[in-house]
Amino acid sequence: MNLKQYNQLTLLFYFFDFYQFALFFFYSNCISLINLLLFHIFLHFILLTNQQLNIFSSIFKRNSQIGDSGVSGLGYGLGKCTNLSNLTLYLGRNQIGDKGASGLGSGLGKCAKLSNLILKLQKNQIGDKGVTDLGFGLGKCVLLSNFTLNLKCNQIGGEGTSGLGSGLGKCPNLSNFELNIKLNKIRDECISGFGSGLAECTNLSNLTLNLDQNQIKDEGASSLGLGLRNCTNLSNLTLILSENQIGASGASNLGSNLGNCTRLSTLYLGLGWNQIGDAGASGLVSSLGKNTNFSNLELFLHQNQIGDQGVSSLGYFLGKCTNLKDFKLFLRENEISDQGLSSIVSGLQKCTNLYNLTLDCWQNQIQDLQQSKVKCLKLKRLVVLQMD
Ligand SMILES: *[C@@H]1O[C@H](CO)[C@@H](O)[C@H](O)[C@H]1NC(C)=O
Ligand SMILES: *[C@@H]1O[C@H](CO)[C@@H](O)[C@H](O)[C@H]1NC(C)=O
Ligand SMILES: *[C@@H]1O[C@H](CO)[C@@H](O)[C@H](O)[C@H]1NC(C)=O
Ligand SMILES: *[C@@H]1O[C@H](CO)[C@@H](O)[C@H](O)[C@H]1NC(C)=O
Ligand SMILES: *[C@@H]1O[C@H](CO)[C@@H](O)[C@H](O)[C@H]1NC(C)=O
Ligand SMILES: *[C@@H]1O[C@H](CO)[C@@H](O)[C@H](O)[C@H]1NC(C)=O
Ligand SMILES: *[C@@H]1O[C@H](CO)[C@@H](O)[C@H](O)[C@H]1NC(C)=O
Ligand SMILES: *[C@@H]1O[C@H](CO)[C@@H](O)[C@H](O)[C@H]1NC(C)=O
Ligand SMILES: *[C@@H]1O[C@H](CO)[C@@H](O)[C@H](O)[C@H]1NC(C)=O
Ligand SMILES: *[C@@H]1O[C@H](CO)[C@@H](O)[C@H](O)[C@H]1NC(C)=O
Ligand SMILES: *[C@@H]1O[C@H](CO)[C@@H](O)[C@H](O)[C@H]1NC(C)=O
Ligand SMILES: *[C@@H]1O[C@H](CO)[C@@H](O)[C@H](O)[C@H]1NC(C)=O
Repeated sequence: MNLKQYNQLTLLFYFFDFYQFALFFFYSNCISLINLLLFHIFLHFILLTNQQLNIFSSIFKRNSQIGDSGVSGLGYGLGKCTNLSNLTLYLGRNQIGDKGASGLGSGLGKCAKLSNLILKLQKNQIGDKGVTDLGFGLGKCVLLSNFTLNLKCNQIGGEGTSGLGSGLGKCPNLSNFELNIKLNKIRDECISGFGSGLAECTNLSNLTLNLDQNQIKDEGASSLGLGLRNCTNLSNLTLILSENQIGASGASNLGSNLGNCTRLSTLYLGLGWNQIGDAGASGLVSSLGKNTNFSNLELFLHQNQIGDQGVSSLGYFLGKCTNLKDFKLFLRENEISDQGLSSIVSGLQKCTNLYNLTLDCWQNQIQDLQQSKVKCLKLKRLVVLQMD
């Protein structure tokens, strides 16, 4: 191997499976031990001879069985590369648990110059302890500015999210953050800790939180909102809370807090398959209405028991969003009739800057869609209309 020293390195373990490699050469019961030994020797060689690395990317094939020990070793090696600024690690589906996540966290905590980080850890077995330690480590990376973290399909309850939040709250430069934590076991009790962590990130400008399919109820949605409203620089928010157990008060409180983020201009809010009902829908939009700076707005409200009463305030709110350029409303499988649709469409008449409109009201009680369609087509800037 070449002993030349690099400051930028990309390792693709994509076509190279350590497990099979070991299997091929040593058909024994100690496969995973040998496999690990090889991995450590390799890492030691690469990382410890290249400590001046600025940029490091590594993509591990899924199922290459890196495991806790492998990831801890990786963290240890990376911790020696104290000048690292950009790091990308794809470690999805690799049998990583708490120990591995902790090891990675303590390593990364030594990379004080880290500013761009992509960490894909989906489909592993990481629980609360691992995520808390990862958050604690990352809290030492005070220059962290762009961070993508994928923890989809792990075993994180509430405490882990809280630990992650309080870690990231120590990263004042964080401005772009994308967290996918769908399909975990996140409960209400600990979301406030996560929220107050994020509340410290006042530079946060683009935020994506995917909390799809967890166990979040009203209290959780409310405390998340309480955190987000302190992120005063937030301009672009994607918040996915579909398939949780959020009711009317959760949706209203979320809306009233998001209404305080006055710089918010792009919002995707996914609340499908919850139970927000009429009161939740009108509470949500009437408080969001404190902010009329929206230019791109997407509300995903599938299957929420919303009727005409719920959408009547939607029309009023939309009427105030005169900067709206792109609006998508998904109301599939609710209880809206022609009257409700007509109040939405009347509100939209005031959005004279609207270019794109999507209204999905499939499976409601609407008889005359055509009439509303004709009304929408009168919007003078409209380029794209999708309505069904
Ligand atoms: C990190 O960068 C600084 C300045 O660019 C340099 O002096 C130092 O030797 C580097 N550290 C390592 C471990 O390469
Ligand atoms: C690190 O990544 C960021 C964002 O992708 C990029 O703007 C920057 O140029 C990268 N840094 C280096 C040293 O290449
Ligand atoms: C935030 O980043 C800027 C450069 O982008 C740097 O000057 C500043 O020191 C950083 N702030 C903290 C608290 O690290
Ligand atoms: C963060 O990402 C943005 C957009 O990709 C880039 O312009 C910016 O330079 C990055 N920040 C740092 C500190 O590299
Ligand atoms: C926000 O980011 C800017 C650089 O983008 C930095 O100078 C400033 O210190 C950050 N704010 C806080 C509160 O750290
Ligand atoms: C938001 O900021 C206010 C005032 O700065 C503070 O009192 C409150 O505790 C913060 N909220 C959270 C959730 O941190
Ligand atoms: C965030 O907002 C503060 C004031 O609210 C401002 O000083 C700072 O520059 C902003 N940061 C960014 C990245 O816009
Ligand atoms: C927010 O994200 C958009 C699109 O990725 C990007 O153009 C913009 O620079 C980001 N904002 C900041 C403050 O990095
Ligand atoms: C908002 O953020 C999303 C996700 O990061 C990005 O795809 C989109 O381009 C951003 N939009 C704007 C207007 O910055
Ligand atoms: C939220 O908005 C209300 C009314 O608009 C205002 O009284 C309150 O101070 C705001 N809170 C924060 C944290 O910005
Ligand atoms: C719209 O955003 C600007 C800053 O981008 C802010 O000063 C203003 O207060 C916002 N307007 C409303 C009605 O929230
Ligand atoms: C409208 O939607 C099209 C794609 O359907 C997109 O290319 C365009 O940028 C959108 N325009 C606005 C103003 O959002």
